[in-house]
Amino acid sequence: MSEIIGLPQPPAVGATALASGTFEGVTVVVTGGGTGLGKAIASEFARLGARLAILSRKAEHLDAAEAAMTEIGAEVLCIACDIREADSIAAAFDQIEERFGLPGVLVNNAAANFPSPTEDLSPNAWRTVVDITLNGTFLMCREYGQRLLSAGVAGSIINIGATYAWTGGPGFAHSAAAKAAVKNLTESLAVEWGPYGIQVNCLVPGLMPHEDMTADIQGNLKNTNDKDLCQPAMRVGQRQELGWAATFLASPYARFISGHTLVVDGANWQRRSLTNPEVIPIRVQMGRPPFGED
Ligand code: HXC
Ligand code: NAP
Repeated sequence: MSEIIGLPQPPAVGATALASGTFEGVTVVVTGGGTGLGKAIASEFARLGARLAILSRKAEHLDAAEAAMTEIGAEVLCIACDIREADSIAAAFDQIEERFGLPGVLVNNAAANFPSPTEDLSPNAWRTVVDITLNGTFLMCREYGQRLLSAGVAGSIINIGATYAWTGGPGFAHSAAAKAAVKNLTESLAVEWGPYGIQVNCLVPGLMPHEDMTADIQGNLKNTNDKDLCQPAMRVGQRQELGWAATFLASPYARFISGHTLVVDGANWQRRSLTNPEVIPIRVQMGRPPFGED
């Protein structure tokens, strides 16, 4: 009998596959590292000896990052920065260099997203998501790349993507378009900057629920009853699984991997139905009246 057992659970938070001290003396910058998946990624680098620089807008998120990194025993510098603003990014890198020297790793994790039928998006709503998710990632890469190139020093960039970069994301068209561009930017930069020692990859999380998810995203998730049963893995992802993948990609053991997008989602994005399930329009799924009647 073929039992449905799903993919095994990972080791507990705190376990590491890489040797202890792999990132000793290395500074790792994580945008949005005070919440959810960014904090999980920063934590795995911290456990392996890295010094962390966390960039985000809100004081409460920076405080949370400071507390989490300190608890692990890592040195941490938390900087208020909106990644939509090039000057603010340059000032943040000045602070990081002054305290720690040039970072060895940049993780572009910060992003913006909320569900909406596309016809309901205002120009500013579209612009905001693209500005944070795509333009912010570009501005961070640009500042970091310029500094590494000027110094003649190698480095590693990990851009956080999403699987709807390939498939489109009905109900998340703004974010999906921006994430597709982030994946594409990764591929261009990997080739342009490889000669200068800069590795550029994209890392994609699957469904990894966490308490910091915005009310919009949590509200959307509530529409799915049993989140484990909706995954081919028969379970959702655990955030440390993303952190381990990030530390591997930026480690000495992955130096020849560049321009790659690694998906950590238990194959959920490749799922197709044998039959054709009924199509339910996005605005019906979201409980919105017909367009023009609200
Ligand atoms: C429609 C919305 C909206 C919503 C905001 N807007 N929320 N439109 N539906 N739910 C519109 C506003 O009305 C405004 O347009 C414009 O967007 C900008 O809104 P602000 O609140 O002024 O923007 P800002 O303060 O910059 O905040 C950005 C934000 C916010 C995206 C709206 O949610 C945020 O800061 N998010 C950061 C964290 C985040 O989004 N995490 C999700 C990552 S998860 P108007 O026209 O009124 O001026 C993820 C999962 C991917 O990416 C996979 C999922 C399956
Ligand atoms: P999250 O908790 O909402 O984190 C987003 C982070 O980005 C916050 O810490 C936020 O901090 C920061 N941020 C947003 N706008 C910013 C700005 N303009 N400047 C600087 N920082 C900004 O989301 P998450 O679930 O951890 O997601 C992390 C990454 O994974 C994102 O790239 C997301 O698209 C991707 N992803 C997540 C899932 C999932 O299931 N969770 C699935 C696919 C992809 P401040 O508010 O303090 O600025």
